[in-house]
Amino acid sequence: MNIIMIGTGYVGLTTGVGFAELGHKVACVDIDQQKIAQLDLGKCPIYEPGLEELLKKNQENGNIVFTTNLSLVIGQAEVIILAVQTPPKANGESNLDYIMKAAEQIGELLDHEAIVIVKSTVPVGTNRKIIECIRKALEENGKSDLTTVVQIASVPEFLREGCAMKDFFKSDRVVIGTDDEIVSAIVEQMHSGIEAPVLKTTLESAELIKSASNAFLATKISFINEMANIAEMSGADVREIAKGVGMDSRIGSKFLQAGIGYGGSCFPKDVSALKVLAGVRGYDFHLLKAVIEVNNKQRELFFKKVQKALSPLKGRRIGVWGITFKPDTDDIRDSASMDIVKQLIAHGADVSVYDPKGMEHARHVLPDHITFAPTPIDAANGADALLVLTEWPEFKDVSFPTLKARMIGTQIFDGRNCLADLHLDQFGFEYCGVGLCT
Ligand code: UGA
Repeated sequence: MNIIMIGTGYVGLTTGVGFAELGHKVACVDIDQQKIAQLDLGKCPIYEPGLEELLKKNQENGNIVFTTNLSLVIGQAEVIILAVQTPPKANGESNLDYIMKAAEQIGELLDHEAIVIVKSTVPVGTNRKIIECIRKALEENGKSDLTTVVQIASVPEFLREGCAMKDFFKSDRVVIGTDDEIVSAIVEQMHSGIEAPVLKTTLESAELIKSASNAFLATKISFINEMANIAEMSGADVREIAKGVGMDSRIGSKFLQAGIGYGGSCFPKDVSALKVLAGVRGYDFHLLKAVIEVNNKQRELFFKKVQKALSPLKGRRIGVWGITFKPDTDDIRDSASMDIVKQLIAHGADVSVYDPKGMEHARHVLPDHITFAPTPIDAANGADALLVLTEWPEFKDVSFPTLKARMIGTQIFDGRNCLADLHLDQFGFEYCGVGLCT
């Protein structure tokens, strides 16, 4: 099939490469000239395991091309996928300006029958607005005959950063929301090759399945974080609680890892957007308000714990391991780790950071006097304390006797409980996790 992908952000790029690998002909379009030039050379603007290899392979076999000019490629399109950003506005609502602009452009340029698929995460009701906008632009450009043959489907994405390519080819489900049975069959055909059950729904249900999935996962995280806070006051271990609770198959063991809370470009934005949308419809989504509040409080509690132990923070040398919002990505957007680092800096601490992939982005955001260390040990050199804020697997392989020798202080605060099993007290450290008995 001939597919156009509008938007080469995280979702657009990984999905575009995925469809190319399935044998479709994909043209990726973006207004960012620099990014397109980079992609044209086979270079990935983001770190995502396996992505660059598949990108190069499919460029070489001609299955994927990149352009800034939609009009050059739209003539071939059977399917046009919208994967442009829908960033949060100050009030938490999704900003739909970019996606509506892209829809208008489709209406202006399209001259044949096509299916428009919305992959961007949008509030319920947006898909209908998008198709109305496309049809209006078609009419205004003298193409009223096309208004009935351009159809829309909502096919939300459930890819996780760090394993997006794996998730693309093998997923828990593909949700296809559309009013039209023929469109539904074509979209299903387009996804053949992906190992996943297909769920067919209305447009609105598909939109809400996406919002609800992220909101529910965020709820699980906030729940276990509250349990961690209670465990800490009660001499219990939240990891044991999560294990015991998760053994109930009705609950499941995933997304019950306590820590400094969820971050990234999806959960914070999507949970807020659903809460705001409910409010706009006159419904007070109490539960989501609490989920957001608990998540914000969790990083604050962790920071206060460090502050109390090291008071005053001013002038203290603190090593930090991990600044990305989770491991296996270079993404620092809405990262709980970054927030804590900023708090340390604001309180006058002398911070030295190590992260395997996130430092390049962090350099542009953190003040110049912050040290970016080449290794985890170097980040902790001469430190009064070490904070572990993202659970990169390599942190477990550090030589802890060497670390101990290089640090001045003995305290390790682990915001992800990722070193809890290593019994760091055997090396002379005072270890403090989240929700663990001390
Ligand atoms: C999330 C969803 O998992 C994907 O299904 C969805 O497609 C994506 O958002 C999206 O909407 O585009 P992602 O943001 O890549 O994917 O990251 P997750 O793996 O879900 O983690 C999100 C945050 O929750 C991270 O900060 C992580 O550290 C935190 N987390 C996760 C916990 O604190 N505890 C857990 O048990 C699990």
